Amino acid sequence: METIFDKSRHGRSAHNLDPTPDFEQEWIPENMRGSGILLPEVDELTLVRHYTGLSKLNFSVDANFYPLGSCTMKYNPKINEQAASLEGFSSLHPLLEPDLSQGILQLMHELARMLGEIAGFPAVTLQPAAGAHGELTGLMIASAWFEKNGERDSRNEILIPDSAHGTNPASASLCGYTAKEIKSDSRGLVDINDFRKKLTGNTALMMITNPNTLGLFEEQIQDIADELHNNGSLLYMDGANLNAIMGIARPGDFGADIMHFNLHKTFSTPHGGGGPGSGPVGVTEELEPFIPFPVIKEQNGAFVLDSDRPDSIGRVRSFYGNTAVMVRAYVYLKTLGGEGFRRVSENAVLNANYLRARMKEDFDIPFSTDRMCMHEFVVSAENLKKKHGITALDIAKGLIDRGIHPPTVYFPLIIPEALMIEPTETESIEALDRFAETMKEIAEQGIKDPDSLRNAPHSTHVSRPDEVAAARDPVLRQDIS
Ligand SMILES: Cc1ncc(COP(=O)(O)O)c(C=O)c1O
Repeated sequence: METIFDKSRHGRSAHNLDPTPDFEQEWIPENMRGSGILLPEVDELTLVRHYTGLSKLNFSVDANFYPLGSCTMKYNPKINEQAASLEGFSSLHPLLEPDLSQGILQLMHELARMLGEIAGFPAVTLQPAAGAHGELTGLMIASAWFEKNGERDSRNEILIPDSAHGTNPASASLCGYTAKEIKSDSRGLVDINDFRKKLTGNTALMMITNPNTLGLFEEQIQDIADELHNNGSLLYMDGANLNAIMGIARPGDFGADIMHFNLHKTFSTPHGGGGPGSGPVGVTEELEPFIPFPVIKEQNGAFVLDSDRPDSIGRVRSFYGNTAVMVRAYVYLKTLGGEGFRRVSENAVLNANYLRARMKEDFDIPFSTDRMCMHEFVVSAENLKKKHGITALDIAKGLIDRGIHPPTVYFPLIIPEALMIEPTETESIEALDRFAETMKEIAEQGIKDPDSLRNAPHSTHVSRPDEVAAARDPVLRQDIS
């Protein structure tokens, strides 16, 4: 693939300005003058075509189906983007005094209240910048609470199911805890016996995702919460999958003490692309004094920032957090209304089950062949691999050739050759049918012509990059000398 430097031809230019180098250099101290920068020399049309071409290589949910399990790549209404780019929000300086930034403070105050209402928590902090950051913040809040009760040293373990997202044990470890794995049972839920065996006086809390990453609702959640509380431990809920239960069940009501939200999944900012995101954390009344400051409060008809909070864990993020993501979430909730976000969850679950039922003839769906799933489900390509040497990765690459973004692969770890499919509520029945037919066609290709599938994708500039090397040893420079 040609870079802009490959397209460079000496003497071409996309502007008519005379650079007058001698005049400019006069003003630059000698020791600060460079020896000349090699910039690409291209005409305007080449420049425009180059970057337009690059933009077309980008895959987006606006262009096609994106069933990336756990990432909730749903369609995000454009009105949210318009609101976030309103000058009154986008030009706000983060150091403005509160009396000059009442609008955004009011929006944040109301958003925190709405999120608290949806998930059943009396207090919500909007500061954390992502889900994993929310996890860390939540664990820091729990630590501060245990510290205050004189138990931080003795309670040094966190229980985490083996189906959990990798960020859960990472956050536990970063916060100084030992992560203890809880097995899943034959139904893909927390093995209650293993949980009881591992619950001890050292247990600070349990981190649980509900629905879990297999797309299954943890039916014993209330018992688990009660047993944790009777043991003096807390229940942390990873709320990344809240989009399956909004308006139907509230984690605060089934016993969670702390929960992070992924605004950049459930509440309409796209999750892909590395951010920015927002991972607000909701807590019970008992834990409220420990949330990060400043806290936005309404006082005499105005919104103020309260930093006089002696038990607070302090700031976890500069300024107010990622406010553009908050504006999108606010507009999303306001336009949906109470009945609306219940419908979001119902349709997310309906779409996942429709697709699951359509795909079960052609693929193994280990824990939910004949059982309802929530907003996502996990298919296994293990049998295809055993019989035909076709892996989950091959299927994912085959989808790229057909213009569909692959599902998440090889996660959760407890399903071999996993493909985790989350259709989301915004897709039509036609899009779901097309996907089911495409998956069937790929499975048939894998049986009839496995080599062509093993070499997919055939339609991209690079077919199968070494992903580990690309992450660990990226080549970010081009030799243009
Ligand atoms: C179940 C679950 N927990 C936690 C996270 C972490 O969220 P983030 O990527 O915003 O850090 C994710 C991300 O997709 C997730 O799916």
